[in-house]
Amino acid sequence: MRNNLGLTRRNFLLSAAALTVPSFARGEAMAHMPPKTASESFNPDVDIELACKTDSVRILSGDATKVWRYAGNLLKGPANTLTNLPDSYLGPVMRFVKGQKIRIRLKNELPESTITHWHGLHVPMEADGHPMAAIDPGQTYVYEFEMRNRAGFNFYHPHTHEATATQVYRGLAGGIIVEDEEERALGLPSGEFEIPIVLQDRSFTDDNQLFYGGGMHRSMFGFYGDSVLVNGRPDFRLDVASRAYRLRILNGSNARIYKLQWDDRTPLTIIGVDGGLLEKPETRPYAMMAPGERLDLWVDFSGRSVGSRLVMRSGEFDGLVPPMAQRMSGGLIVGDDYPLFTVTVTRAMSDSPKLPEKLSTIKHHRPEEIANRDNPRPIALSMGHMQVMINGRTYSPDDLLDIERVPVDTVQLFEVFHDHGGGMGMGMAGMGMGHGMMGAGMMGGGMMGGMGMGGGMMGRGMMGGGMGMMGMMNMAHPVHLHGQQFEVLSRTYTGDDPEAYATFKEGLIDSGLKDTIIVTGGERLRITKPFGDFKGRFMYHCHNLEHEDMGMMREFSVE
Ligand code: C2O
Ligand code: CU
Ligand code: CU
Repeated sequence: MRNNLGLTRRNFLLSAAALTVPSFARGEAMAHMPPKTASESFNPDVDIELACKTDSVRILSGDATKVWRYAGNLLKGPANTLTNLPDSYLGPVMRFVKGQKIRIRLKNELPESTITHWHGLHVPMEADGHPMAAIDPGQTYVYEFEMRNRAGFNFYHPHTHEATATQVYRGLAGGIIVEDEEERALGLPSGEFEIPIVLQDRSFTDDNQLFYGGGMHRSMFGFYGDSVLVNGRPDFRLDVASRAYRLRILNGSNARIYKLQWDDRTPLTIIGVDGGLLEKPETRPYAMMAPGERLDLWVDFSGRSVGSRLVMRSGEFDGLVPPMAQRMSGGLIVGDDYPLFTVTVTRAMSDSPKLPEKLSTIKHHRPEEIANRDNPRPIALSMGHMQVMINGRTYSPDDLLDIERVPVDTVQLFEVFHDHGGGMGMGMAGMGMGHGMMGAGMMGGGMMGGMGMGGGMMGRGMMGGGMGMMGMMNMAHPVHLHGQQFEVLSRTYTGDDPEAYATFKEGLIDSGLKDTIIVTGGERLRITKPFGDFKGRFMYHCHNLEHEDMGMMREFSVE
């Protein structure tokens, strides 16, 4: 059997595991807050019922696939608020306008507890989808908030304690488009010329059910599927007119990092990132994109003849994710070259909007506005002893470090970096041995600390895989901070593979407002983040969802 990438569907290593997604239902262990109900005093402009439910969708030919999904129902608001994507398990694309008062009634029709987070939106804690707010089957949680965000493309998905990865994998995810006046005035491509593109990798069993493969490697490295779906569809094709389009891309994968590039090497014109439009367009030969990140692309097909075809691919790169783990999990290797979707020009069109020279105004923080400008707060990423951690800890709701208490209405400086402390421990040595990649001596705990970037960046093949495993501590992490978007001030690299690093860096867009950033081994990023308006607990975590569920998550107490 062949999937959309022309690959043979895997015969999985662990046949006993070739069932559907395992249900951990570990979210039950967490104490929940009582579900929030609708408040009389809140008078919404938009009122939505959003059910989380089980369903089945025809994704591949043959049997339908059982999924979990969001289903929306607009009770009040503009008719274009909810748009369903055709034949997709993804939730409706929600379209909001800055300033709108929004109520969303989340109904849990699943067999386990859940809660939804609006990734990218600046909302009060009660509307942020804190894991402690998870609701039981049959319950409803009512979110009420005012849209404070500037125009941008955001991401809604579950944030259930230790079950985010499985719930997203089963299909619970969707996009949120926010509009504002500043953006409208630009006359960017809209309507049929503005296309959401959600990238997610999945694996399927022979009877077309979702397969959550990877065994023990999955929790350490994340899930890597063997095909990439776009908007929930394999073999995604886009028929376009010869004019400008706006592609709003979201990496909704659990762990996969992409290097987006056109097959004919047309440079990418980037007009926006996570937090909306850049100040002016930027071009890149390709763009790196980690889970949770968004990219707003201006693509001009004018001048292309009817019948011409362009393929968006994920191009080759080294490092970032140790290849051995992915190979063992049966997935398509991150960093190999593979197609994502195909665009065909099917009709000529003579007029097209022009790319604006200036897109938006971003209010940069002046140094004197930064509360701790000589004393950055650390976000230290580490992997070891089968654990993934931030600031030396895994998530626990009652555990708060001093550096995690943040005064409200301040701008804070953070430094994000890999912190390797000790070695990997014998757990990993065992894995290395078991698969015969390398001797136990090489994999031994003590020497791991010294492996540096070199390991992770080594070539492919068996050896590359083995080395990659040792370089795992340099594995790139998509670091996401809830609440208001931040700016990247600087990114410095002191690792020992500057060449591979330069390739990676050329595909980064650090100039706009971000809420998720890739941080790889040997890097040190400085970011400034505002903590305005809302007090309470807001999460920060790795957006490799398996890492998040393993506890690579902490929270700020904004007080
Ligand atoms: Cu998109 Cu806390 O997550
Ligand atoms: Cu978020
Ligand atoms: Cu991570």
